[in-house]
Amino acid sequence: MTSEIISSKELKKMDPVFGQYSFDDHEQIVFCNDKDTGLKAIIGIHNTVLGPALGGTRMWNYANEWEALNDVLRLSRGMTFKSAVTGLNLGGGKAVIIGDAKTQKTPELMKRFGEFVHSLSGKYITAEDVGMTTEDMDTVREVTPYVTGISESKGGAGNPSPITAYGVFMGMKAAAKFQFGSDVLEDKNVFVQGIGNVGEALVEHLVNEGANVTISDISQDRLEEVRSKYGATVYGGDDIYSEDMDIYAPCALGATINDDTIYKLKAKIVAGAANNQLADEKSHGLILQERGIVYAPDFLINAGGIINVYAELENYDRQEIMRKTENIYNTTLEILDNAKVNNLTTHNAALNVARERIETRKRENLK
Ligand SMILES: NC(=O)c1ccc[n+]([C@@H]2O[C@H](COP(=O)([O-])OP(=O)(O)OC[C@H]3O[C@@H](n4cnc5c(N)ncnc54)[C@H](O)[C@@H]3O)[C@@H](O)[C@H]2O)c1
Repeated sequence: MTSEIISSKELKKMDPVFGQYSFDDHEQIVFCNDKDTGLKAIIGIHNTVLGPALGGTRMWNYANEWEALNDVLRLSRGMTFKSAVTGLNLGGGKAVIIGDAKTQKTPELMKRFGEFVHSLSGKYITAEDVGMTTEDMDTVREVTPYVTGISESKGGAGNPSPITAYGVFMGMKAAAKFQFGSDVLEDKNVFVQGIGNVGEALVEHLVNEGANVTISDISQDRLEEVRSKYGATVYGGDDIYSEDMDIYAPCALGATINDDTIYKLKAKIVAGAANNQLADEKSHGLILQERGIVYAPDFLINAGGIINVYAELENYDRQEIMRKTENIYNTTLEILDNAKVNNLTTHNAALNVARERIETRKRENLK
């Protein structure tokens, strides 16, 4: 964007917020700006019918503000459906902070962000996402109670990533049961793209099960660490999408299933942790279906993290967290079966379940 004044005629053409495809009926979007700390953040509140909008904060060096806005809109919408399909009494929201988490994140910036969260009086509750740690959430907790994902020593449920990974593993096994007739992943060739907090924990489950695991990451240090810990194979090529594999597990950022990659994919299953894996959920969901590739919907199988932080609000224990997360296996299988019977994309079948729950609650609220 330039700093020139844009004519109202030009502005009309842009439809910058309500006109975005990803806007999809958001209830509220909050732009947060603080010159002193350098904070530039956007909070997206998509839907609060089932409860307060809970979703993590991502700090990322976006190329521009449009990219940040689009990301927060897509992510907060995804949270609505994630909590709804998982059966949690939570709405969907998300926040993004524009900047480099390694060099621009300070306690002052996080506190200022927390104050903006607080100003929403609990309508939005934050947690960690990419670029955030439990320590950052502890800092936010100093200025607002509307934060989850804080350290266990401070009464929180701790790092949600291992639970997310367990849920993804369960969803992957369900997809294998559906596609191959068995949920045993031994000897299956699984590519894990992105071996950060979730990816690494997923690799551990897969290796323990006897799968042949190949890993890729933009960080050589991570690759070396995870390779030496678990004996996974480091991907040496330059086009992961064209490789022979049984299962592709996207665990880095979203939109890796797109026009450039979708026809190259040789995997029989896509099941990973990344949010918004389909660049265009309608067309790409359909192409995967037509190509016989089973897609385990991201917002369904990566719900372990939200189940974990929800425990902080509902006071349930680790056993209950694990039980709820393990149940992702059953929900995934039901949704894959439902999609087959009704000739729907798996993404749409999961969306329908989520939407039905929201509509039912809306009707109940009107009584
Ligand atoms: N942490 C959770 O509990 C949780 C819950 C739900 C969804 N998710 C989603 O799962 C994904 C991973 O989350 P995380 O917490 O592990 O993040 P993370 O930041 O710890 O890990 C991401 C990893 O991906 C790597 N990466 C980035 N771009 C890449 C690329 N082009 N190719 C290969 N690797 C690349 C990074 O180097 C990093 O190692 C994110 O999309 C996140 O939104 C996470």
